[in-house]
Amino acid sequence: MEKMERNRLFRDAKEWILEAGKEIRNKMSDPFEVDTKSNPNDLVTTMDRNTEKYFVDRIKTKYPDHLLLSEEGFGDDVRSLDGTVWIIDPIDGTMNFVQQKRNFAISIGIYHHGIGEIGLIYNVMEDVLYHAIRGEGAYKNGERLPHLKSGAVLEESVIGLNHFWLCENRLVEEKAMQKLVKTARGTRTYGSAALEFAFVAEGVLEGYITMSLSPWDIAAGVILVDEVGGISTDIDGNQLNLVEKSSVFTSHPSIHRRIIEDFIQKGRK
Ligand code: IPD
Ligand code: CA
Ligand code: CA
Ligand code: CA
Repeated sequence: MEKMERNRLFRDAKEWILEAGKEIRNKMSDPFEVDTKSNPNDLVTTMDRNTEKYFVDRIKTKYPDHLLLSEEGFGDDVRSLDGTVWIIDPIDGTMNFVQQKRNFAISIGIYHHGIGEIGLIYNVMEDVLYHAIRGEGAYKNGERLPHLKSGAVLEESVIGLNHFWLCENRLVEEKAMQKLVKTARGTRTYGSAALEFAFVAEGVLEGYITMSLSPWDIAAGVILVDEVGGISTDIDGNQLNLVEKSSVFTSHPSIHRRIIEDFIQKGRK
């Protein structure tokens, strides 16, 4: 993508994400409807839908030839990353939004012919914007995030995980994950994949590993992590596919291989 075009897209995406976040903050105490989707804990609210519509309106008006892949169904039926595709999660961490009124984010990844060009993750209630532009680094509120320092060790690492690893699962035997938890310094669960990616990029989490995420959960995050030298793959170390659901493992480069080889792969044997 041409640099001028990319800068223009970045300026628009930044303006829109900040405006959408402000709207959410302004309406935070208004009543909103909560519906469920695939199961009683899979929530969606009027705020998720309205925020997604806001982006669809803006993008379709200003960039009619761009495509939108987004969670709540107002975007396009995107099956490949040909052309320019905006991958949007209007609220990542809907359960946090409903229950806690914080710890949720808006996530936007812009891809051009499959290459991640721009990533934005906005922690709405904290008013913290992470952004990355391919080849130009990752930033938190405009300040450049340092490259992840070499030499991280698992024994001193904090890993983002969720409770699914404690339940029976088809991907890895539970004991492998128990061993991982006991080897790492600690674990955290934030409930927003986008923020967990941003925390890996920021270096406050050394890794984040999860069984199943959708493109909109990770599209911005992988660009951010990439720009600071981190690695994002599925849990077997394969390249991520950004048009389908998959398992996800993003981390500091020093611990990526060890976690896959010594814990995940051993947990399958
Ligand atoms: C969810 C969050 C959560 C993750 C779920 C996602 P949503 O996104 O990222 O942390 O564990 O798998 O679906 O539904 O709140 O946008
Ligand atoms: Ca959801
Ligand atoms: Ca999400
Ligand atoms: Ca969402």
